[in-house]
Amino acid sequence: MLNLIIFGAPGCGKGTQSDLIIHKYGLAHISTGELLRDEIARQTADGIEADRLISKGNLAPDAMVMRMLSEAVGRLNGTCKGIVFDGIPRTLSQAKVFEKHMDKAGKPTSVMIDIEVPEEELINRLISRGQASGRSDDKIEVVKHRLEVYKRRTAPVKKYYQSINKYVSINGVGTIEKVFERIEKVLSSL
Ligand code: AP5
Ligand code: MG
Repeated sequence: MLNLIIFGAPGCGKGTQSDLIIHKYGLAHISTGELLRDEIARQTADGIEADRLISKGNLAPDAMVMRMLSEAVGRLNGTCKGIVFDGIPRTLSQAKVFEKHMDKAGKPTSVMIDIEVPEEELINRLISRGQASGRSDDKIEVVKHRLEVYKRRTAPVKKYYQSINKYVSINGVGTIEKVFERIEKVLSSL
């Protein structure tokens, strides 16, 4: 099984690269951002709570996200060759629970790939996407707050993955194809 974590700041290209990876390697894709947006669209109790936080650029609660994650893994029912995890884990506490769970389930993660992009480029990408996507969190003030939250709460997760020898960072600047080539190189070395 090939279980990968695609990591990085808002707008670094996690969703874009996850799509390319799942097509080439035949993997499933779980994006917690997409799971949350689906709850919001359906106006479930979780969705209503998450909407209040996400539209301001804050994280959803760890417990809510971990529950959604384990339901999504359960729905795959062991039928896939592996999973690309996009946007999770996003806090130290999520990382510890997640790794323990995957190890216990006999599906350990292989690697975390961190897509590194300078802040100015992240802001440009998200603002231009926001004009088409209509995502409530792609407005300039919210994007800036998401980047702050990333630095404070999510970036420390890198150190944890370094400490368990599963961390690789790649340069996320360049064409989408170029960035994908860098990811392919990491995957072929596993
Ligand atoms: P989530 O949906 O995960 O959003 P995010 O991490 O902020 O990242 P984005 O989806 O905005 O960007 P991306 O890295 O996928 O880049 P993309 O490929 O789209 O989470 C949303 C919110 O949900 C969070 O803020 C949080 O509140 C909540 N949440 C989610 N998971 C959570 C968790 N685990 N715990 C708690 N809360 C959670 O690319 C961006 C743009 O750039 C696109 O327009 C794309 O076309 C373009 N682009 C991509 N690659 C390139 C390239 N190489 N060159 C030029 N442009 C490019
Ligand atoms: Mg995304």
